[in-house]
Amino acid sequence: MKCIRSEIIGHGHFLPEKVLTNDDLAQMVDTNDEWISTRTGIKSRHVAAEKEYTSDLAFNAAQMALKTAGISAAELDAVVLATVTPDNTTPATSAKIAARLGVKAGTPAFDISAACSGFVYALTMADNMIRLGQAKTALVVCAETLSKITDWTDRNTCVLFGDGAGAVVLRAAEGEGTAADTGVLATKVYADGSQFDNLLTNGGVSTTQTAGHIWMNGKEVFKYAINSLAQGAEDVMSMCGVKAEDLDWLIPHQANIRIISGVGQKLGLPEEKVVVTVDHHGNTSAASIPLALSECMEAGKIKKGDLVVFNAMGAGFTWGGALVRI
Ligand code: COA
Repeated sequence: MKCIRSEIIGHGHFLPEKVLTNDDLAQMVDTNDEWISTRTGIKSRHVAAEKEYTSDLAFNAAQMALKTAGISAAELDAVVLATVTPDNTTPATSAKIAARLGVKAGTPAFDISAACSGFVYALTMADNMIRLGQAKTALVVCAETLSKITDWTDRNTCVLFGDGAGAVVLRAAEGEGTAADTGVLATKVYADGSQFDNLLTNGGVSTTQTAGHIWMNGKEVFKYAINSLAQGAEDVMSMCGVKAEDLDWLIPHQANIRIISGVGQKLGLPEEKVVVTVDHHGNTSAASIPLALSECMEAGKIKKGDLVVFNAMGAGFTWGGALVRI
């Protein structure tokens, strides 16, 4: 049955210039490259400059996405930003980016706070708007400056995170209603607030009037991560009658190589189909999936027609998946 699909017509990413290696971190806290590499798979991450904000990263990624889409910002009908590190508590950072890009006044713009699941949530919301006819062309941008909420004296967390941004432009197109269509084929998002205290900032506007620093119960997060990431992927595949062997790529949230490999194995995917960028990005929360996607598309690794699953899990806990034909 004919239906409206949201096609990814543009992709973009941006990383701050400064790179922090594991050896650099070993100068700051009691850690070493061997521990970080074997436990997380991370070798280096990018860190924003003091006056470089989430909106700057998002703006640059969005500009690249508009350029690869071959459209101007004036053609956008919606701007959705996923972040846990907004420039200001209010207004939404998406509004700032929209104005800077030259999006027409009156175009809806809003932020989504779903932590590391931010891209899957934002893609879901933008896709829903497109399928309902509320937007024809939408920008989904995910950007984080996690370095600003990292406790740089805590070796348990400071080795894990990085800064960066990724973006996609979606446009409405007619589909046949089958898995052979191009565009977003299925999305599913979840949350379980009983896990709130296992991954959070130890501060907030209403509680401490500070942003706080990231804290987590690493072992609990780890246990939950593999199952929830697998669920995100399995559900969207079964919604479309797609099997793991039909996939060209899995782009899981990039938090830890052991989680990424565990999910790939649970889904029965060969290693070469599972995208890994955590080694040089670290965990960039909401930005990790669109950043990885854009990097792979720019390198010609992921191509038009490829069938891809995005799956993510993060604070909340939140999790989910999206099945997309590029
Ligand atoms: N360098 C060296 N040693 C470190 C260290 C570091 N950066 N961080 C912790 N350690 C030490 C701990 O203090 C502990 O020492 P102890 O045994 O003397 O107490 C030891 O290493 C083991 O710590 P532990 O926490 O048990 O390690 P782990 O194997 O569970 O790995 C994580 C820790 C954080 C890498 C792992 O739990 C993880 O990946 N969790 C999920 C995190 C994540 O991805 N979160 C985001 C999801 S969106």
